[in-house]
Amino acid sequence: MAKDPTYICSKCNAATTKWSGRCDTCGEWNTIEEVKPLSTGPKSKKAMGGIRGKEITLTDLATTEKEPPRTLSGVGELDRTLGGGLVKASALLVGGDPGIGKSTLLLQAAARFARNGLKVLYISGEESASQVQMRARRLGLTESPVKLASETNLRDILTTLEAEQPDFVIIDSIQTMWLDTVEAAPGSVSQVRAAAHELTSFAKSRGIAVVMVGHVTKEGAIAGPRVVEHMVDTVLYFEGERGHQFRILRAVKNRFGPADEIGVFEMTGKGLAEVKNPSALFLSERGDPAPGSVVFAGIEGSRPMLCEFQALVAPSPHSQPRRTVVGWDGSRLAMILAVLESRAGVPFTGLDVYLNVAGGLRVSEPAADLAVAAALISAREDAALPKESVIFGEISLSGGLRPAPQTENRLKEASKLGFTSAITPVRAKRGGDAGVGVREMQDLHTFVEQVFGAR
Ligand code: TYD
Ligand code: MG
Repeated sequence: MAKDPTYICSKCNAATTKWSGRCDTCGEWNTIEEVKPLSTGPKSKKAMGGIRGKEITLTDLATTEKEPPRTLSGVGELDRTLGGGLVKASALLVGGDPGIGKSTLLLQAAARFARNGLKVLYISGEESASQVQMRARRLGLTESPVKLASETNLRDILTTLEAEQPDFVIIDSIQTMWLDTVEAAPGSVSQVRAAAHELTSFAKSRGIAVVMVGHVTKEGAIAGPRVVEHMVDTVLYFEGERGHQFRILRAVKNRFGPADEIGVFEMTGKGLAEVKNPSALFLSERGDPAPGSVVFAGIEGSRPMLCEFQALVAPSPHSQPRRTVVGWDGSRLAMILAVLESRAGVPFTGLDVYLNVAGGLRVSEPAADLAVAAALISAREDAALPKESVIFGEISLSGGLRPAPQTENRLKEASKLGFTSAITPVRAKRGGDAGVGVREMQDLHTFVEQVFGAR
């Protein structure tokens, strides 16, 4: 086995295994120096040995580079989720359940960006060109200057991109793409990962914005979009309940803007329409105050959003009562039930509990705790809360209440939608009068006592 070089010429960086007075490569005298191996681990075949790399140029944190150029689509909800428009030379992933409306959203986005001057290519690996054209006709987009192809071979696609030099490319979907160098079926982890890697580096080097569609596969199938999440700059998930017409585009990762930002859309007969005032929409079906119904003043991304929590509590015929949750976290519900029982004396043993967020919204904020607790007690006691009041606050395991961030924004939104009172934890930071009467609660016990009467 050849020995690792341990001598290096300080002039030309040539490496040798033995010392000499003159460098064989550049001919300089007295430049050969002994070097210690770089690798500090035990000597093995995979260790780096004595070979040196070249030094990297370092810079300061201060930069003179401009913000990356962005293009707006003109669809406010989409631009907001992107963090203020589409960034050149970036890679995006749009994930979601099959049939939720990803292709519809992206075809509409493609048309918008094309109208705003970008050269747009839509590559479908799932549908034929005529199927996409049919959708375009339904959406009234046939006049848009979007170029279309139906193809799955990534080598051909990259060659086409090279020749066409587009600004924006949509790959629908990454699970249908395949590379001839990878010996695995399309949709497998190795194909998806390799295809995404090629597309991402191609996008960066040629200044193209690439959107990859990824189907969220059922549990068990691992080749979901998660395997490429770390490679791309922005990850958006398109979610919504199939039976509802509302769809939410949620940024779960964004290197060019805030994560957690959401855009709200409505699926209509003519494609997706943006929803400018989501709070009004999510509360639109609310009737007279009913037991178990509570309005939560939440924050989604940077904006306040009101929604309705509905609970149903009924004696259980089962030995193990049911706990069913739609739109919220099941383990968080179990926690709230336990805290209600041990800290506020409201037991739920022997009772089935159903919790739902109206309209198909998914809430993940801890600040919803108090609204959930209120809905549960209200359903259990068959006592409706006042129609014009909103609730928010985090519950701790001790039964204490923690103030939620952005209290003032929540109160303002409530006031805007005609609510006149709010129940919040104490010490909630708020500025001036938001136009809403605020009742502050010390802890969960006090809350139950004051809102639902002595127990
Ligand atoms: P699609 O975009 O094909 O979903 P994905 O690409 O995520 O699999 O959307 C499919 C659903 O959207 C389909 O069930 C029909 C519905 N839809 C409408 O309601 N209105 C429309 O204008 C379009 C194009 C689709
Ligand atoms: Mg599709």
